[in-house]
Amino acid sequence: MKQVAIIAFDILRTGIRTTSHFALVLPLTIGTAHSVGLSPSIDDSHFTPLQLLGKNLFFDTSLSNPTGQSCASCHTPENAFTDPDKSSPTSAGADPNLFLNRNAPTIMYMAYSPALHYNADDDTNVGGQFWDGRTDSLEEQAKQPLLNPLEMANPSKAAVIDSVQNGPNAELFKSVFGMDAFTDTETAYDNLVHALAGYERTAVFAPFSSKFDAYVAGNAELTPAEQAGLELFNDPAKGNCAACHISTPSPDGTPALFTDFTYDNIGIPKNPDNPFYSLPAQYNPDGAKALDLGLGKTTGDPDTNGQFKVSTLRNISLTGPYGHNGYFDTLEQIVDFYNTSDVKPECSDPLTSAALATTLGCWPAAEYVATVNHDELGNLGLTSEEVSDIVTFLGTLEDGWTEARATTVGEPPTLAMIVLGLLGLRLAYRLPRPPKRYSERYPD
Ligand code: HEC
Ligand code: HEC
Repeated sequence: MKQVAIIAFDILRTGIRTTSHFALVLPLTIGTAHSVGLSPSIDDSHFTPLQLLGKNLFFDTSLSNPTGQSCASCHTPENAFTDPDKSSPTSAGADPNLFLNRNAPTIMYMAYSPALHYNADDDTNVGGQFWDGRTDSLEEQAKQPLLNPLEMANPSKAAVIDSVQNGPNAELFKSVFGMDAFTDTETAYDNLVHALAGYERTAVFAPFSSKFDAYVAGNAELTPAEQAGLELFNDPAKGNCAACHISTPSPDGTPALFTDFTYDNIGIPKNPDNPFYSLPAQYNPDGAKALDLGLGKTTGDPDTNGQFKVSTLRNISLTGPYGHNGYFDTLEQIVDFYNTSDVKPECSDPLTSAALATTLGCWPAAEYVATVNHDELGNLGLTSEEVSDIVTFLGTLEDGWTEARATTVGEPPTLAMIVLGLLGLRLAYRLPRPPKRYSERYPD
């Protein structure tokens, strides 16, 4: 956990360090979302050529080896840019027999993650991309999946560029980067990831259009359970969730991101269902004994072993399974874990699934025991109703909320209500249309 003020500084820093597109797009989003509580309708017609190219490349299935997998295969808009395939806790590669060792996180709001750096004021590591912060920018991040043998599996940068040059986006690529855009492989590869990152920095990935945003703007009321959940979420003596998943705007006005981009070990056990454990030795020489050191592998500092980046909780109801290895199937399970991981006895088998552990009334040992945070979580003393209220509140963080989607209790209409209703209708026609759901924005 760390101070909110530092985030603001970091975001400013990132803005300055990266391209003008970041500087242009995000303030636009923040300004609009913040003042009216709803995001502007987002469609391609507002995209710059770079952003449009980035979008096309993000969905381009000719960029994997064998072809068939794109970035969007594991980061689908309908699932808040996570993997739609729930049959496995971690994602399958372009070769469907190969699997990554981690759960695909949402990319939404990740443009706000600063480069990884150490903050001496409160002894935290902050920022970076991936669960372990191993790259500093969206550009550097995008370079990896294209070449990772467990993901898009291209043998070389030249092979990737060759696919772009012979693929559906060759002309657009040249119109953005010049007629000689394919002559130098290194330059072309840098431009390719620059376009992908340009798309990832559009308001599509940061609409700030949840019910929570509407509530903060005074345009929606929370139900009693949602309200109770929010209070438990914020209360340091109860859920204490906001200590790391910050629920208030940054001083620069950026709405709450529900992460401070720091790292922690919340004590997640190994996931017995992780298909990575059964990969051939060339990909995983340690079998089921494979130990994921998280941030420790990035920094080399053993004090950070077992730590993973604090996830944003925006859209969390769409992004299961949960945790860096997808250990938890449901939000109830992970919130129960926060509540009782230091209280319930240890399961005798360290490879016990979350569902079985719940039935048995135990939790398996953490995958990496030495650095688990027992100060801020593990024994919250919440009742099962309080756990359920927190889960209900988390549902308000789903983007694309409109009042029309909220269910209202029917009451017999009075004349005054009919008049008000007609006035409302009139107003609705004069107001900009509410943001579309992802599925409408990206029909198959
Ligand atoms: C096979 C599935 C798969 C494919 C294909 C894939 N990703 Fe990912 N992505 C993941 C997983 C899993 C992680 C987390 C890996 C880790 O932390 O080690 C991830 C992490 C990320 C992150 C970091 C998010 C964060 O919270 O730090 C970004 C950004 C991202 N991917 C963008 C992309 C882009 C752009 C492409 C296409 C070039 C792509 N991904 C292709 C599965 C995939
Ligand atoms: C000390 C910091 C800290 C506190 C306090 C905290 N979290 Fe987290 N949270 C994290 C970290 C770190 C992760 C990623 C852990 C991992 O995957 O290993 C995480 C992950 C999650 C995830 C899974 C995210 C995903 O995309 O899979 C959920 C859900 C979550 N937290 C909810 C909560 C709730 C609800 C509370 C309060 C009851 C809470 N957290 C309190 C640090 C914290």
